[in-house]
Amino acid sequence: HGILGEVWDDEMSSSMLGNRLKKVVQNYQATNKYGVKISGPGGVPSRPKLSAQALLCQFKDKVELMTLTPDLQPFASLPWASQLPPKPLTSDLGPYKTCAVVSSAGSLRNSGLGKEIDSHDAVMRFNAAPTGSYEKDVGSKTTIRLINSQVMASDDHRFLSSSLYSSGILVAWDPAPFSADLSQWYNRTDYPIFTQYQRYRRLHPLQPFYILHPRFLWQVWQRIQDNMAEPIQKNPPSSGLLGTVLMMSLCEVVHIYEFLPSRRKTELCHYYQRFYDAACTLGAYHPLLYEKNLVKRMNQGPDRDIYVHGRVKLPGLSMINC
Ligand code: C5P
Repeated sequence: HGILGEVWDDEMSSSMLGNRLKKVVQNYQATNKYGVKISGPGGVPSRPKLSAQALLCQFKDKVELMTLTPDLQPFASLPWASQLPPKPLTSDLGPYKTCAVVSSAGSLRNSGLGKEIDSHDAVMRFNAAPTGSYEKDVGSKTTIRLINSQVMASDDHRFLSSSLYSSGILVAWDPAPFSADLSQWYNRTDYPIFTQYQRYRRLHPLQPFYILHPRFLWQVWQRIQDNMAEPIQKNPPSSGLLGTVLMMSLCEVVHIYEFLPSRRKTELCHYYQRFYDAACTLGAYHPLLYEKNLVKRMNQGPDRDIYVHGRVKLPGLSMINC
């Protein structure tokens, strides 16, 4: 190994996984729960590996951060539509100068990154990730928390009553079928995101709470697949990449912590739980391996920052000229 040890190889492929994970990933690659349609004949043609600039421009041109508003059908015809924010997230939030996206990886333990993370103008966290008693490593500021519908619905997360969720701005998402319109999704969400949303809004009417338009998820998914040489899992991107693209739409610079594993890399799934599984870092359901390849290719910081701090630096989409 060189002095840098190993940093994420941007050509990671599922063939490089251990046998157990390889099988799980192959299984997900073959399943198509959401009816994803691969555009073009034959699926995945070989394509040139794009530069960081060209990849960033794809995100700028082909991905739009959209959230649900009360004017959209079927919500416009439903009695609770007025619980949705009147304006989309992008008209209410930002622009921020510098932002932090804090993955929940176990390798954040003993990172000492807390002060640096809190120095950013806005900090994004995910799902049930706490700050209390982990401040030294993950900081204490939470500007936006991105949560999935499973966390909103599961009993153990106590979404409606835990104080974890009651500060900052909430953004929720649920995997819709690939080609479904909002009405079809409304009638067959993965988890009961809309009933939980209404309950939460009644308990916390003043806290800003947005729901991602599912088109955004699949636009991000398409950016991953179009830039990989093999078929990726036909499931939505992980919260980590969705949150990164969300912050790239609001911030001038985005720093992502421990999405690409540092020298502290570990099979510990989350910094806040004693649960070990390499799938948390390498992906099983989510095309996480390929998300990391893409982020590595777009990184504007030195490899040493990844190795030592687990830090990646991406420009905001408003800062790039395409
Ligand atoms: O597990 P959870 O989805 O709440 O974690 C938030 C995000 O952090 C994930 O979606 C993933 O992108 C990232 N993560 C990671 N490696 C881990 C744990 C989480 O890259 N070990």
